Amino acid sequence: MKTREIRDRFFAFFESREHKLVPSASLVPNDPTLLLSNAGMNQFKPYFLGEQSPPFPRAMSVQKCFRATDIDEVGDHSHLTFFEMLGNFSFGDYYKEKAIPWGWELVTDGFGIDPARLWPTVFETDDEAFDIWRDAVGVPPERIVRRTKEHNYWDMGVAGPCGPCSEIFVDLGDAYGPPSDLGPEGNEDRYLEIWNLVFMQNDCNAQIEPVAELPKKNIDTGAGLERIAMVLQGVPTLYETDTFTALIERASELTKQKYGKDESVDRGLRVLADHARGITFLIADGVLPSNQERGYVLRRVMRRAVRHARLLGGAASDRGRGEEEILPEMISSVIELMGDAYPDLIEKKGHITEIAAHEEERFAGTLRQGLSMLEDEISRARETSTGIPGDVAFKLHDTFGFPIDLTREIAGESGVPVDSERFEKLMADQRARARAARKREALAEAGDVGAAILEEHGPTPFDGYEHLTGTATVIGIADNGVSVPVASEGDEVEVVLDETVFYAEGGGQVGDQGEMSSPTGRARVVTTTRIVPGVTGHLAIIKVGELKVGDKVAVAVDAGFRRNSERSHTATHVLHWILRDRLGDHATQAGSLVEPGRLRFDFNHFEALGEDRVADISTELQERVLVDDEVRAFETSFDFAKSIGAMAIFGEKYGDFVRVVEVGDYSKELCGGTHVPHTSQIGVAVVTSEGSVGANLRRVEALVGKDGLDYLNRRVAVLERAAAFLKTTPEEVAEKVERLLQTSKDMERRLADVDRKRSSSEADALAGAAEDLGGVRLVVARRDEGVDALRQLALSLRGKLGSAVIVLGTATDGKANLVAAMSKDLVERGLTARDLISEGAKLLGGGGGGKPDLAISGGPYAANLDRALEAVAAAARESLRG
Ligand code: SER
Repeated sequence: MKTREIRDRFFAFFESREHKLVPSASLVPNDPTLLLSNAGMNQFKPYFLGEQSPPFPRAMSVQKCFRATDIDEVGDHSHLTFFEMLGNFSFGDYYKEKAIPWGWELVTDGFGIDPARLWPTVFETDDEAFDIWRDAVGVPPERIVRRTKEHNYWDMGVAGPCGPCSEIFVDLGDAYGPPSDLGPEGNEDRYLEIWNLVFMQNDCNAQIEPVAELPKKNIDTGAGLERIAMVLQGVPTLYETDTFTALIERASELTKQKYGKDESVDRGLRVLADHARGITFLIADGVLPSNQERGYVLRRVMRRAVRHARLLGGAASDRGRGEEEILPEMISSVIELMGDAYPDLIEKKGHITEIAAHEEERFAGTLRQGLSMLEDEISRARETSTGIPGDVAFKLHDTFGFPIDLTREIAGESGVPVDSERFEKLMADQRARARAARKREALAEAGDVGAAILEEHGPTPFDGYEHLTGTATVIGIADNGVSVPVASEGDEVEVVLDETVFYAEGGGQVGDQGEMSSPTGRARVVTTTRIVPGVTGHLAIIKVGELKVGDKVAVAVDAGFRRNSERSHTATHVLHWILRDRLGDHATQAGSLVEPGRLRFDFNHFEALGEDRVADISTELQERVLVDDEVRAFETSFDFAKSIGAMAIFGEKYGDFVRVVEVGDYSKELCGGTHVPHTSQIGVAVVTSEGSVGANLRRVEALVGKDGLDYLNRRVAVLERAAAFLKTTPEEVAEKVERLLQTSKDMERRLADVDRKRSSSEADALAGAAEDLGGVRLVVARRDEGVDALRQLALSLRGKLGSAVIVLGTATDGKANLVAAMSKDLVERGLTARDLISEGAKLLGGGGGGKPDLAISGGPYAANLDRALEAVAAAARESLRG
């Protein structure tokens, strides 16, 4: 039965049961919580939740779906990233009593699948569904499998409707592994899920826990169209069905690789076919490759496809200029195959292929260099039993365009981890640098306009200590450094007012945010700075209408933003005082950053404070917050301020008149910033880190207000989770971990001992059986163990054997590795372990690297390990003879 006929029969079946046909929604869902459409029910979510009333009680659809979560399994017999899902839906109308028998009827009578091959599953406590399968449908009870929440409770992966489900599995036969009395519970490869019937009855929160009943009981079913085609067409994988064969053929032509001869090649061709479909449909629905969100999903799939093309030898990066790239060719085939069912693909063909060609070209140019760097790093990491440093992952991303997932995937194929934390930190730094650079540019550009305004109007008066709202007149607008009379919707400009309540960045405190509006327009103020000393610029994005010089505007500072800045600012003064009190008068301020929720304070001191002292300082800070001292500000002469001991910042210029901020009767600082009126309004202030930022220069960071509270709560939650894992109380966690560490150290020592003894006797046995090739000993063996154990074994054999070549292989967790070692005399003869291993490495679908006398390589195609070992052994015999 062709795919088109399956679709038609499904619709005919449910049409005669009064279901309304609804077209597929876009892959870009109309739902901000969801990255990409992943199920037929997505577009019906408001009906299930009771937020909208459905225009019809029953619906059916074939929905385009994309699931990046399955990407690592793509290329096996049954997984895809992009697929089509058939579904029937009931919005508070029928429930299990109809959904189950209909599902069975269509699968058996409609599609003609032999009932003896079918296994339904139900959620472990769902007796109702179990009884319907047994009594109404007549399935023998031993063929109905009860399964846990992990398998038989469906949710969207984000907050939303959810519920227990019942799945229909088909037994694919002996080629997929042994049968099991438990059906799918015993062997997920042999029993293939073709239809999921979800009984939507709960609402779940963002932690994916059901928290409420839905207003009505609903049905949401999903059947993978490609999987049903595979079963009905009797082919071994999804990729031999009618919608895929032409694609596989095209991939095979383009890469000059035959399909059906070699499992590793087949997998690569399938990945290309799957990814080509995903890429085509994502771009058709408006996604563009980028480094964010769904754009990043697309980029990752595209770059992964390009890498696979290269692994197959279709070497996108080896093609000369002017030759066609792989992706546009594959995409054209997808459109030829699916344009009938999805006519918009034909319309958008030019756009889709152009985007794909551009992305492929960009990535292919750097792929080779990036891969060679990564392969070197992988060998190094394996030799030193470490991982790929975050800095390397960052360079791969930044210079060679490797999405972090791709780096992780390639390193993972050799069992090497990547330092993701450091990578994320470097990414965050880079974003911060870019932001700062943009700001500097904007300021430099607005400077000339600011100078002219200063000359004409003088400095901008600030009225924001007392007020957060007011009115003012626009006296200048700078657009990219040029003075303009008017700014319109979408423009980002510096607006200068005759007076302002917005605090301009200074004294460490960030500039205010807020809004300004005139009768003809409204703008969002994203930050406030001095564009030249004395003149305040409001960096504003015009949201509605336009803003003109001369307009009277109503202005309002975002009160929450300001109050949070003030909390941090007053906390900074208190912290400064505590540091000087505890460390001595030398501990003066060298710089600070005060922003909502967070502060950073640099000060002069010659040594690290140590954990205890930091904890004490944090406690005193919080205690002083609770004391609820008054915070006062007044203006006075510089000399008087000095005479009462007010702290001035070294190097800062002050006029004759200054502003002094006092906290209680202890802290006095010259300060133009804004503050809370009482310390208790800081709420929470907690020191989170202390470290060095230069010679005799330290930095303390603290979180303030809600951010401080969130930080503490997170810590408590982590501790509680750890305690729950350890089955103890939070108070006892440290002791328990200490004991566990000790036990694990003891065990490691004992294990190492056992390992040493075992590997030495194993090495003796292997050495005894070594092949003699004219005085050179050859050992080739497979041991499915960790790579490090293999490496140790290879080295110990080399030590025992004198002139020798050792080749060992391992396959664990679906990945395979080869380790080759050779004695120095052979290296001197011009042989290298790296060359020796390269044929085998290719069979594993991976690269090789390493030193002349020791090389390690790995790849995803574990099934080829024995062949790879043979290939390496043959290469060794050949070169030793030659
Ligand atoms: N929403 C369920 C699934 O995606 C059934 O349609 O499996």
